[in-house]
Order: sequence, then structure tokens, then C-alpha cells
Amino acid sequence: MSKIAVTGKGGVGKTTVTSLLAHIYARQERKVIVIDADPSPNLAWALGFPAELVAEITPIAEMGELIEERTGAKPGGSGGWFKINPMVEDIPERFSAQYQGIRLLQLGTVKKGGAGCICPESVLLKTLVTHLLLDRSSDEVIMDMEAGVEHLGRATAQAVDAFLIVVEPGRRSLQTAELIQRLARDIGIPRLYLVPNNVRDARDQQFIQEHGPDLPILGFLSHSPDAIEADMQGISVFEKAPQLVKEAQLIAAELDRLSAASSS
Ligand SMILES: Nc1ncnc2c1ncn2[C@@H]1O[C@H](COP(=O)(O)OP(=O)(O)O)[C@@H](O)[C@H]1O
Ligand SMILES: [Mg+2]
Repeated sequence: MSKIAVTGKGGVGKTTVTSLLAHIYARQERKVIVIDADPSPNLAWALGFPAELVAEITPIAEMGELIEERTGAKPGGSGGWFKINPMVEDIPERFSAQYQGIRLLQLGTVKKGGAGCICPESVLLKTLVTHLLLDRSSDEVIMDMEAGVEHLGRATAQAVDAFLIVVEPGRRSLQTAELIQRLARDIGIPRLYLVPNNVRDARDQQFIQEHGPDLPILGFLSHSPDAIEADMQGISVFEKAPQLVKEAQLIAAELDRLSAASSS
């Protein structure tokens, strides 16, 4: 079982990687929950969820009644009392969309007040993420994040089996990767890996090895016109890009090998 976080600069392929791994696990009959933690969510599309289903998804942060019921306070307020350990156990089953064996939870965004603001909706999201990472031992959890460590804290850091930083051949995403690496190390996330995407040839591979942060590479994903086509047609990369699926299968196998090695 793995708890995987996927991060990296905008546009490098986080959502693509998340959706490929999710489909691969689902085909292996593993229980998969994916968390769309990006403020502009589009994982449902990458997974190939039908439009009717996508239309029904409400981000958890926008579920006003649920937030009030669980925390005892209306979203938006940071004054007054609310529960800091709301009940979240039933949320993954009740409020996820499900398609082809993949459960999807969309977190949504919390409008931030001042620095360090604690409000009912952020507490609910954090508790939910903690629950998914720490208590759900039978689930594969894959979290599609922004370029950072949002939603992860010291308490959950150790529970992340693999923290994937997606990069592409180019200095910008590698610089972002360095920054993410520092943030991740600061909160104590242990197992960091690079996943180079959009790789055209050996020169691209070498560029990333030479200029990227000094982290183990899980596997390379090729530049794929099929992936672009999948996005244009609104179907999943898994269905449309066999070469990427093959490469992502190697990455999934490597993740399994690492997780078996660390638990023995
Ligand atoms: N290996 C690839 N080859 C070609 N296009 C890709 C590849 N991976 C991702 N893309 C395309 O790049 C764009 C951004 O990918 P996405 O996964 O949404 O990135 P992120 O989630 O990091 O913002 C999408 O249009 C996607 O189809
Ligand atoms: Mg994305």
C-alpha cells in the first residue's frame, strides 16, 4: 500500500502522472483514492471521468453544511469556537466521485485570512488528509498537489511513502524542484524522488541528471503527442497513450519495490 504525493511546477505533468498511476493501480484491483488538491482542479478530466460526473463534484472546501455540521462553525469565520478534530471517516466514501475503480476527492481552496489562519474549512481539509494518509491502510492514496507541501504537516510527513517531484527538461522546473525539496525536508518528509516528464531523448535525460536536485529518479516519461491528443479529446491519458502507460508501469513497479524494501 502506498501513500503518494505528486508535486512540481505548474504544467510539468503532475496531474498526468497522478492519473496514470491511479489507473495502473485500479487495473491491479487495488483500492485507489486520488485527492485533487490543486486550487484549479482538473484531475477528473485527466482520469477520463465523464462530464456528467465531473459536473456533480463539489470540492470539500465548498460544502458549507458539511463543514458546519462537522466543525460546529460556519466556513469563513476564524473567530469563535469550533472542533479541531472533526469526524471525517465517512467523507471519502460519501463525498467522492467514482469511475473505473478510482475514487476522486476534490479538496478545493480555502480563502486564506492572515498568516497562520485557522478556520473551520482548513481544519476539516487537514484532518481529512491526515486521515487518508495515516488511518486508511488498505487504500492507495495519491495526492495531486500544487508546487509545495500544502495540506501536509509534520504529523503526516512520515506517512508519505513517496513524495514525487515531477520535472521536465528545462531549468525552471528544476529550480522549482529544488525549492520543493527544501520545503519537504523542512517538515520532515523522508522519501523524495524525481519523475522527469516530457523527455525527448538521452540529452534531455542527461540535462535533468546534471542540473536537477540530487534525488533518485523513479523513471522517465517521454514527451508524448498522444498525451496532448488525450487532453484535446477529453479522454484519459491511460487510454490514449500506451507508451506513457508502459513507462508509468515501470515507475509503479519501482514504487512497490521501494515500499516493500522499506517495510521489511
Ligand atoms: N509526457 C507528455 N507529453 C506531452 N504532453 C504532456 C505530457 N505530460 C503532460 N502533458 C500535457 O501537458 C499539459 C500539462 O500537464 P498536467 O499533467 O496537467 O500538468 P500539471 O498538473 O503539472 O499542471 C497537459 O496538456 C498535458 O496533456
Ligand atoms: Mg494539475
